[in-house]
Amino acid sequence: MAALLTGSANPPLAATVAERLDTSLTPAHCTRFPDGESAVSVDPGVRNGDIYLLQPLTPPVDAQVMELALLADACRRAGARRCTAVMPYVGYARQDRRTAEGQAVGARVVADLLTAVGVDRVLAVDPHTAALEALFTGPVDAVSAVGLFAERLEGDLADAVVVAPDLGAVKRAERLAGRLGLPAAFVTKTRLSGREVAAGTLVGEVAGRRPLIVDDMISTGGTIEAAAALLRAHECAEPITVAATHGLFVEEADEVLAALGLAAVHVTDTLPQHTGGELPLRVHSVAPLLAAAIDALVHERPLGELAAHG
Ligand code: R5P
Repeated sequence: MAALLTGSANPPLAATVAERLDTSLTPAHCTRFPDGESAVSVDPGVRNGDIYLLQPLTPPVDAQVMELALLADACRRAGARRCTAVMPYVGYARQDRRTAEGQAVGARVVADLLTAVGVDRVLAVDPHTAALEALFTGPVDAVSAVGLFAERLEGDLADAVVVAPDLGAVKRAERLAGRLGLPAAFVTKTRLSGREVAAGTLVGEVAGRRPLIVDDMISTGGTIEAAAALLRAHECAEPITVAATHGLFVEEADEVLAALGLAAVHVTDTLPQHTGGELPLRVHSVAPLLAAAIDALVHERPLGELAAHG
């Protein structure tokens, strides 16, 4: 018996995934004590079940990690046979290595915590780092929104160039460019702080072409802002379009991006999104992708075309 449960990070996405799987969500109760501690309980019917816990690690990230860990622990104590953490967005994935002496490796801490409480395997969407696979003891499967963006943007961008705003996005940009039959370019980026980045060199031809900037996530919007300035300095055509799987939009991100005069900002619903603000936001659901991946895992089928590589 397979069961899908949700934490409190993105219940609408979980409900849509359940609908696509033609099932209902198994009840899980997530609450918080007055002192801020998370408290959860799950339906005792999870005993012997193949459990899928859907919880993107959205801000407030630490609270969502803890809630997911408690849900996994509750399932294990209730006798679940197998527990898969479905993390549409994997927070802490940017902390996959030390970049300076004295730092912690946050992604490893999250992996160890989830493994310790009984998470057997992970399903993610466009995780920031492929190193996730090495950090978890159990299998990590990833699906990608690149195909979704390719379907939705096809035909719209005849004279475009797909741009990676940093080296980490190069493979993603090349995959999207390949799917759309477009050339690719990339920008080198230096991160100065959590909020500030500097775009360095542009590799590839963008003059007279409309850029489609593709990244795994938008957090403060600083990466997109810096890339857009460099592309404009190299006489790209207007307007610029952006596609990023995870729209975190923290701090002043909406204002930063709105000031860039973008044609559209395409994101998915791995995190809850609110349209109707000043951003030209287009939200595409990953629910069909996640439902297909969960169905494959439940029936022990390979993910095949759904799998993200690199
Ligand atoms: C970093 O390597 C990621 O791929 C994103 O480029 C970055 O996290 C986006 O953050 P921000 O929007 O704050 O620049």
